[in-house]
Amino acid sequence: MSLLFGVTVAVACAGEPLPEDRAFGPERPSADVNHPTSIHTPEGLGRLRATLPAGLPGATVNGEPKEVVVPCLTCHGNAASIAIRAGTTPDKRFHANVEVVHGNLPCLSCHADRERDRLHLANGDTLAFDDVMTLCAQCHGPQFRDYQHGAHGGMNGYWDRRRGARTRNNCVDCHQPHAPAYRAVVPAFPPRDRYLGTTPETH
Ligand code: HEC
Ligand code: HEC
Ligand code: HEC
Ligand code: HEC
Repeated sequence: MSLLFGVTVAVACAGEPLPEDRAFGPERPSADVNHPTSIHTPEGLGRLRATLPAGLPGATVNGEPKEVVVPCLTCHGNAASIAIRAGTTPDKRFHANVEVVHGNLPCLSCHADRERDRLHLANGDTLAFDDVMTLCAQCHGPQFRDYQHGAHGGMNGYWDRRRGARTRNNCVDCHQPHAPAYRAVVPAFPPRDRYLGTTPETH
């Protein structure tokens, strides 16, 4: 009798589709659809943000200093750069607001000398600011490897890329290139656990 019962159950499982209310979600998409992973690129990388000198027409908007975005080549392009590179500019600390707290790297270990609107690698190849991650990877191999494995830098979107696309952060979303140390966070109170008594009950 019990043998007969077992056979009946086996037949039922193999043959019939799951009832509607037991469905677990949409059909698995086919394995050959693989949505892309894209890396976020912050806007306006390598642009100088400045305010106009007070008193200049249009220097303030509603009493607030107006911010202007200046491309590097405004001053470092062609004729201007020749003047700057020849050292005719008295102010050697022109970018005084840029404070580099990154090992003891000089400016030109990252910025290209003759093409100031670009970065450069150790082999002399220059690259656009938008390709900044190639620059970081050059000196931080282990972190870049971890990033590629998904263990550093976080991600958003779909884990299963057959279902949808994934987005990843850029190194410079989290690390300011001039001062890349990840800021310390303010420690919060420990989670309150009523049973383990980590926080005394106050009422
Ligand atoms: C308003 C004009 C101006 C703009 C815009 C400007 N710079 Fe400069 N920059 C200067 C001057 C002036 C110096 C100092 C020149 C010197 O050291 O002889 C300088 C120096 C530098 C240096 C230091 C060079 C060295 O030898 O150490 C770097 C790097 C640099 N600029 C990068 C940039 C980048 C990148 C941008 C765009 C994001 C930029 N600058 C935009 C005027 C400018
Ligand atoms: C580790 C590499 C690195 C070093 C060293 C470095 N920079 Fe940069 N710098 C960058 C990158 C990458 C950007 C683009 C990021 C952005 O615009 O936010 C940038 C942006 C800038 C900008 C435009 C944005 C801003 O912050 O004003 C200026 C100006 C600049 N650098 C000047 C300098 C000067 C001057 C030095 C040396 C005192 C220097 N940098 C050292 C990598 C570097
Ligand atoms: C030319 C080599 C070089 C490049 C390019 C470079 N770094 Fe660094 N980085 C260093 C050195 C050297 C240190 C300091 C290591 C130390 O002090 O132990 C450092 C330190 C760091 C640290 C740790 C800072 C701290 O104080 O904890 C971070 C984060 C970092 N870099 C991120 C970046 C990012 C992001 C980029 C790309 C924008 C980048 N680095 C590009 C050489 C480089
Ligand atoms: C989502 C934010 C995020 C992104 C994106 C990110 N990092 Fe980090 N990074 C961190 C945090 C958080 C730490 C740990 C800071 C700590 O322990 O104090 C860190 C630490 C580091 C350090 C110091 C390592 C050490 O042990 O002290 C380096 C170097 C570094 N990151 C490089 C990179 C590079 C290169 C990229 C891009 C490939 C990148 N990071 C992308 C958040 C990020």
